[in-house]
Amino acid sequence: MRFDVAALLETRALARNLEHHDVIDSTNIRARELARSGAPHGTCVVAAEQTDGRGRRGRSWHSPPGAGLYVSFVLRPRIAPKDAALLTLTAGVALAEAIGEVSSADVQLKWPNDLLAGPRHGALARRKLCGVLVELSADVQRLDHAVLGIGINLKEQQRPDGIGSYATSLEALGGAPDPARLLATLALRLEERLDTLERYGAAPILAAWNTHAAGLGETVAVDGEGPRLEGLLRGLGPDGALQLETARGLRQIYAGDLHLPGMTRPGDRSG
Ligand code: BTN
Repeated sequence: MRFDVAALLETRALARNLEHHDVIDSTNIRARELARSGAPHGTCVVAAEQTDGRGRRGRSWHSPPGAGLYVSFVLRPRIAPKDAALLTLTAGVALAEAIGEVSSADVQLKWPNDLLAGPRHGALARRKLCGVLVELSADVQRLDHAVLGIGINLKEQQRPDGIGSYATSLEALGGAPDPARLLATLALRLEERLDTLERYGAAPILAAWNTHAAGLGETVAVDGEGPRLEGLLRGLGPDGALQLETARGLRQIYAGDLHLPGMTRPGDRSG
């Protein structure tokens, strides 16, 4: 799979500098190398296959040839390190917008970094279509760069160990779009949303994220830093924390795994 993206790009910076690989260990690893050697904001690494695709929390991202869009961006956003968690949310919003434009899939964002598709109930309910992995290089004072990795399932594939009942693809949802068009659209929406974040701060990003959120008003469980919490999902609050209305009051959750009704999830992998 070759990406003839240049002719389709409408961005100022994102994906203007693009490196394509037929096979690579992980586009995030390569983007990090490029970032450390001074690659400019927006530099993009895309691969047709990854042999060591990475997910959140040490999980792997199954990345067979041609079955997905595997892409990483080097970002040098002008935001404070304390706001870095907003990058995952910003990417989620851009991803939901881009997928909505190039496909007929009905998508929802699952906190903190997944994009789901499919009906709310039934065998095909709430399957994972995309994942986002942000890796930061920052100290307390300054965010030097972030590597934003995105995996989008384009085609149906043989998936390992039960992931088949948890994942879906754009092909299964009505047709996989041209990957170059998907990448160009994603780069544009991402650039716009990063501009919004830099100019106006978190509020518009959080509001947009909430409009796409999965599970609002439903009873959910969250495995965070302490014991498992259960309650009604109230979406993201003004500081970006997930708000859960529990029997003991409103709880703010900053990190964890969310379990939505009707979803099954394999223990240690994604993709
Ligand atoms: C997750 O859902 O846990 C995040 C998955 C992120 C996968 C993408 S694929 C492109 C980029 N390179 C990687 O190794 N990981 C990200």
